[in-house]
Amino acid sequence: MGHPLGHSLSPIMHNAAFRSLGMDWIYVPFPVKPENLKAAVEGLRALGVEGVNVTIPHKEAVLEYIDDIHGTAALIGAVNTLKFDDGTVRGYNTDASGCLRALEEVTSVEGSSVLILGAGGAARACAFQLAEKGASDITILNRTPEKARLLAEDMADKLGFEASYGGYELIQGSVKSADILIDTTPVGMHPHTDDRPLVGAELMHEGLVVHDLVYNPQRTVLLREAERASAIPVSGIRMLLYQGVEAFRIWTGRDPPLDVMEDALKRVLN
Ligand code: ATR
Repeated sequence: MGHPLGHSLSPIMHNAAFRSLGMDWIYVPFPVKPENLKAAVEGLRALGVEGVNVTIPHKEAVLEYIDDIHGTAALIGAVNTLKFDDGTVRGYNTDASGCLRALEEVTSVEGSSVLILGAGGAARACAFQLAEKGASDITILNRTPEKARLLAEDMADKLGFEASYGGYELIQGSVKSADILIDTTPVGMHPHTDDRPLVGAELMHEGLVVHDLVYNPQRTVLLREAERASAIPVSGIRMLLYQGVEAFRIWTGRDPPLDVMEDALKRVLN
């Protein structure tokens, strides 16, 4: 459920998974206007739907209609996955767990120094999850530094975690000491594939993990810079995949067919 829904890749990914497991399930887009959110949640529950993904602009507003919210999602204050469980509405944030899992394919977050660019919803989900997972320090830099400050203050209030924050003029110094760089901004997203990246290869070091949440194109301008610097590129497709994989598990209780879901995404992305 979202509004406007645009061109979501989730139906392709989940329907491929259902088909491969021979499950008589279907994932369909529901455009739901903000004023209809409550009725939509109640209607889905009454209809016996197993669950939904929730996206912009409902990720925060929907909390009001949830009976039970999963720990990290409660701290983040946003959910992207609902499960209807015998009339109980459970809320989860698999953007957060998806971000963590994408990183943990290539590194260990515990004890790592993390730099996050951007301070919107995706940055918030990643920052809370990585702080909870034991990142040693987190720096949040944003075009509007005030928003980075608000996010850092909220982390201090809710987690007792003191993140650093500021504007993009601090990028150079911050990248130097980082183990993990996460770009949550839309820089480099199709059709602006030749945007100047926020961080160039000359600022990166060997072994730095560079996770660009942009997944279209799969190989963004930032990830090309990472390759040039012998850093470790992590495509946004990994987080997209894992947020879906985690949601699939929550809804179905079954082991998600990871390869099938990944192939489905890669077939439709450049
Ligand atoms: P999401 O839900 O994907 O996190 P968002 O909440 O719109 O999306 O956040 C996008 C982030 O990218 C914001 O931090 C935004 O900066 P502002 O807070 O100043 O708006 C940042 N951003 C957007 N466009 C950008 C650009 N062209 N260059 C750098 N940062 C940008």
